Amino acid sequence: MARILITSALPYINGIKHLGNLVGSQLPADLYARYMRARGHEVMFICATDEHGTPAELAAAKAGKPVAAYCAEMHRVQAELAQGFGLSFDFYGRSSSARNHALTQHLARQLGEAGLISVITERQMYSPADGRFLPDRYIEGTCPNCGYERARGDQCEECTKQLDPTDLINPRSAISGSTDLELRETRHLFLRQSALRETLDKWIDSQTGWPVLTTSIAKKWLHDGDGLQDRGITRDLDWGVPAQFDGAPWEGMEGKVFYVWFDAPIEYIAATAEWADAQGLDDSAWQRWWRTDQGADDVRYVEFMGKDNVPFHTLSFPATLIGSGEPWKLVDYIKSFNYLNYDGGQFSTSQGRGVFMDQALDLLPADYWRWWLLSHAPENSDSEFTWENFQASVNKDLADVLGNLVSRVTKFCRAKFGAVVPAGGDCGPLEDRLIADLEAGLRSYQTAMDAMMVRRSAQDLRALWVLGNEYLQEAAPWSTFKSDPDRAAAQIRMALNLIRVYAVISQPFIPGAAARIMEAMACDDWSWPGDLRAALGALPQGHGFDVPDVLFAKITDDQRTEWAERFAGTRS
Ligand code: 2FM
Ligand code: ZN
Repeated sequence: MARILITSALPYINGIKHLGNLVGSQLPADLYARYMRARGHEVMFICATDEHGTPAELAAAKAGKPVAAYCAEMHRVQAELAQGFGLSFDFYGRSSSARNHALTQHLARQLGEAGLISVITERQMYSPADGRFLPDRYIEGTCPNCGYERARGDQCEECTKQLDPTDLINPRSAISGSTDLELRETRHLFLRQSALRETLDKWIDSQTGWPVLTTSIAKKWLHDGDGLQDRGITRDLDWGVPAQFDGAPWEGMEGKVFYVWFDAPIEYIAATAEWADAQGLDDSAWQRWWRTDQGADDVRYVEFMGKDNVPFHTLSFPATLIGSGEPWKLVDYIKSFNYLNYDGGQFSTSQGRGVFMDQALDLLPADYWRWWLLSHAPENSDSEFTWENFQASVNKDLADVLGNLVSRVTKFCRAKFGAVVPAGGDCGPLEDRLIADLEAGLRSYQTAMDAMMVRRSAQDLRALWVLGNEYLQEAAPWSTFKSDPDRAAAQIRMALNLIRVYAVISQPFIPGAAARIMEAMACDDWSWPGDLRAALGALPQGHGFDVPDVLFAKITDDQRTEWAERFAGTRS
């Protein structure tokens, strides 16, 4: 039994996530966590809300709430949605937790003592009316490129041009509207990543088998242009982890907080400590996952994220951990994803374009979405959600292949033998062939799941379901029953057992349906079919079962058209 630590990129607190966010980290991470648990490994699966930074402040201001209250509420909303999607986190923490405050400050202090933090003086926009420095996106003005009057200091949303606040014509504060802005000097802490460039380069080279997407992004940042740049890790904001150490402000850092991207990945560790606290366990319980001097050398640590997060996880976060000089566990494998597009364009949180997690669950059970998203995960390139494709995949894979098999077998059995696993009859060459095919298919599925090849795993799983349908077609117990009821009994016994095995192996993809199948089979033996032949005898003769209600309802053309229209616009 191995120990596997799994983290999903932390969703920003500023609103409900769309399906593109979900498939880029949390959902595939859940697939892997569920699979590894099913294979008998000890898993620690961690996620949390990413609560600091400008986006959180802005969203709270827009909602007219104090930022702490806004974050608390949105954390609850996101946690509920995660549960609705069956995301099986061992702990869903908050980057604003006391644990994260303490650990972030501790690590910064370590970095400072190791000479890896410098203090740099910059000039930034200050608003006397607001009494604060304004981050780029808190400054609005007219875009010098297209004339759009509400362009932000970092980018014009209209023409997408990247901007500097000083480029804007008639700049004003996005908070108060004040045009009385001045450039003022401000001091910030910088993490001297450049000093760790060779160390990081060597560490990345020593990682074998990382996906090309991950390594190529990391290498680009290490070597392009002037190479790895030092990074500002403090901001002039109120909301965040204060840039202080054991209560004493770092010289000149009063009133500043750490940059959200500095404290967010540290929350992976802090959330594991939050988990231990919530369980009433002591520090050794989380440290055995994270401290190599506490046994974490045996842990395999896998991170899931979208490609835009890769630089922070291959460079900045490892720089923090290595630079601290302490024995922290580093990531072993980074599974990164491209983007999922929505019906000819992009999913967009700021524009409310696409389907969001709450809306998805209002339409259909989580498994429908899980299956489509995972079987179309943007692994090797960007992929696209279309309603046609979603309908086809749900109707064919889930309803026609898996759902239909379960329904036909259980109903036929109930009609001819009663709702019990029938006795009598023997298996023959047809069953031997089925078992051999299933064994080969299961090996392929396991290989794909072990390697986190998400799409291929879905294809392999579907192929396993198809084998059951083909067997049933060929065995045709409804005909056999007329001439040889005993033989039909053996065939149906095989099929009922196969349905249970399907529940076990499909559970990582469609946990809700798998649980319903198991319940109908009146069974709670979720053990992975290591010995398939034995597993296909787990439901003994005479074992009672229920015919489950329709497992997957087909999506009609009318529904598809209605939903496509309903989600064509943007959400306010
Ligand atoms: O891109 C994002 O959505 C970030 N909130 C991810 C943070 S991952 C981590 F480092 F915490
Ligand atoms: Zn513009």
